[in-house]
Amino acid sequence: MTQDKATSRRDFLKSSALAGGVLAANMSMLANVHAQDNENPIRVGLIGCGGRGTGAAEQCLRGGRNVRLVAMGDAFRDRAESARTRLRQVEGVGDNVQVTDDNLFIGLNAYQDVLRNCDLAILATPPGFRPTHLRAAVAARKHIFTEKPVAVDGPGFRICMAAFEEANRNRLSIVAGTQRRYQTGYIESMQRIHNGDLGTITSARCYWNQGALWHRARTESMTDLEWQIRNWLYFTWLSGDHICEQHVHNLDVMNWALGNSHPTRCVGLGGRQVRTQPHFGHIFDHFAVDYEYPNGVRVMSMCRQIANCTDNISEAVTGTRGNWTSHEYRITGEREWSFPRRQDNNPYQQEHVALIESIRNNRPINDLKNVAESSLTAVMGRMACYTGQAVTWEQAMNSQQNTMPERLSWDMELPVPPVAVPGTTRIS
Ligand SMILES: NC(=O)c1ccc[n+]([C@@H]2O[C@H](COP(=O)([O-])OP(=O)(O)OC[C@H]3O[C@@H](n4cnc5c(N)ncnc54)[C@H](O)[C@@H]3O)[C@@H](O)[C@H]2O)c1
Repeated sequence: MTQDKATSRRDFLKSSALAGGVLAANMSMLANVHAQDNENPIRVGLIGCGGRGTGAAEQCLRGGRNVRLVAMGDAFRDRAESARTRLRQVEGVGDNVQVTDDNLFIGLNAYQDVLRNCDLAILATPPGFRPTHLRAAVAARKHIFTEKPVAVDGPGFRICMAAFEEANRNRLSIVAGTQRRYQTGYIESMQRIHNGDLGTITSARCYWNQGALWHRARTESMTDLEWQIRNWLYFTWLSGDHICEQHVHNLDVMNWALGNSHPTRCVGLGGRQVRTQPHFGHIFDHFAVDYEYPNGVRVMSMCRQIANCTDNISEAVTGTRGNWTSHEYRITGEREWSFPRRQDNNPYQQEHVALIESIRNNRPINDLKNVAESSLTAVMGRMACYTGQAVTWEQAMNSQQNTMPERLSWDMELPVPPVAVPGTTRIS
């Protein structure tokens, strides 16, 4: 396993901010240097070379003319090398994968090297690292494609909001992989909902109920940190738990439908009924949250990762004049409407088309506030379910609970935190 230096959380954040500052000062290319210039290649750097990062890199290369992948970084050499091999073989864009050995960076600080070598950064590590990477990428004046979620706790959310403002001041584009906001059926649906086709919205529901997910067996040579990062789904400091990692997609639709607002308060329950073995870390396998939004609107949210149950990944909104469901995108009531799923676009691709166009046309898109608020919506739901207490937006936003372990080094002891127990677990 590749080792890099022991890194305290504060040093980690300080050095990244510093690196960003130096990068910004030394920058030879301004953020909008690509405007109206198809001949000037957009140099892409990939941070986090797993399944989604590899997919996003391919979609980015297909997102517009003259886009090149020039740098890649991952915590682990095997992941970085296999992703580069796969990408080089992709039909149509493999020739645009121009990542030399010198530009293949390994370790927890690989992101800093990638940022030194690109114009556009794809952030696709486990979410726990995202606030640090977002802050460094914005400080280095890079355009960004960021996977969701962007934060797993209150301190991470606050970093994202500062990065959002700084990106706006510097005309940087940030597109988020929440996906549905780039999907035709959802966009058409939201236009109708916002136009009043359902009347006044009174309630909504959202679900991500599915079966079990992958895990990677621990080998003898794996340290605690390597094992946890390779199995990042199962550790709250890395994934935010599945309410954050996965259900954020549906919660994002709720915030969007309700006028890009966010909940004010929530209560919830959840637990770990089936996925109880130690290799599943300490996260829950089911959550149900009752969110309160402005004007008394209630949103019921459910997510579950348990095999052999009824699956449901969808959203629905109820108003005084009609109902909308994302199944076949249908409105029933006074203004009937539907949109066949077969006419939908590929939102994964559209995210990158929009991003590259925004850079070429010098019309920045900045999704970071919306995705940060959707991430915090999930975090407050998790806080309510872990503690059994009602949680307000302010409590979640101002929370001092930094879930990232205090010192990160490959050989550190990193015990698995206890599974949260409602009524007993406390969160500041
Ligand atoms: N939008 C979507 O539909 C969608 C789908 C899947 C995953 N995702 C998101 O994409 C992200 C990645 O998920 P994935 O499925 O690709 O996981 P993955 O495990 O396949 O990939 C994550 C990669 O990041 C690397 N990594 C871990 N810590 C790192 C660090 N500090 N620096 C550099 N590299 C690091 C890992 O070694 C791994 O190669 C997650 O946030 C996930 O929620 C989004």
